[in-house]
Amino acid sequence: MTALAVEKLSVRYGAVEAVRELSLEVKPGRIVGLIGPNGAGKSSTLHAIMGAAPITGGDVRLDGRSLVGRRPEDIARRGVALVPEGRRIFGELTVDENLRLGLAARRTRANGNGLARAYELFPVLRDFRSRHAGALSGGQQQQLAIARALAAEPGVLLLDEPSLGLAPKIVDVVFEALMQIRDSGLAVLLVEQRAQRTVALADESHVLANGQLRITLGPKDAGDTDRLVSAYLA
Ligand SMILES: Nc1ncnc2c1ncn2[C@@H]1O[C@H](COP(=O)(O)OP(=O)(O)O)[C@@H](O)[C@H]1O
Ligand SMILES: [Mg+2]
Repeated sequence: MTALAVEKLSVRYGAVEAVRELSLEVKPGRIVGLIGPNGAGKSSTLHAIMGAAPITGGDVRLDGRSLVGRRPEDIARRGVALVPEGRRIFGELTVDENLRLGLAARRTRANGNGLARAYELFPVLRDFRSRHAGALSGGQQQQLAIARALAAEPGVLLLDEPSLGLAPKIVDVVFEALMQIRDSGLAVLLVEQRAQRTVALADESHVLANGQLRITLGPKDAGDTDRLVSAYLA
């Protein structure tokens, strides 16, 4: 059981202040949504947690221990996994080989059933385990990207726009899997463009604009389009 805390995090690329004093917390067995327009600082937040973006202020804590200044591979071994935007799977490798690559980032506390668990969650991957990943559909590739992250047996799962470019039916499959992942006790931080669906799914969702937290919404707010739109425009 691992909890993630982001405290007054600031990220800056030269003159661009991508994230400004953002605070949020993700507890085990919870999904926290991070939504907002393009350029809001969502990816920068995930990259900063992963040790791959320049943090200029604040803290990122895993079970109370700071991750700031640590290298991405060290952060991965402590149990944080990122499903990057655009999947980044290896098309020339088979499904199974892609999943085994995920094992390279296995956390120190892993108990060795990450691969089995990943296949259990996405049965279609087991059926296609010997196929080249490049031959899979977009939705299957996204499932593979998530499965690869899970193979490392993380305690915290970060996802960057997993529904991007997917048909609505496939989005259902991905979101259904996220619920199962949450129920297995992981802390999930979900960056999304599909605001309404994310607000409905997540235990709470933060709207980010210009690097700043604007408002936090709960599942009950999912039908309140006006509130959502005004949060985006604020
Ligand atoms: N590597 C980078 N170098 C310089 N600026 C960047 C870099 N990555 C992101 N930015 C800038 O930081 C801001 C936030 O970007 P990003 O975190 O990608 O937003 P989002 O994921 O919400 O679309 C944008 O203004 C973007 O242009
Ligand atoms: Mg992004």
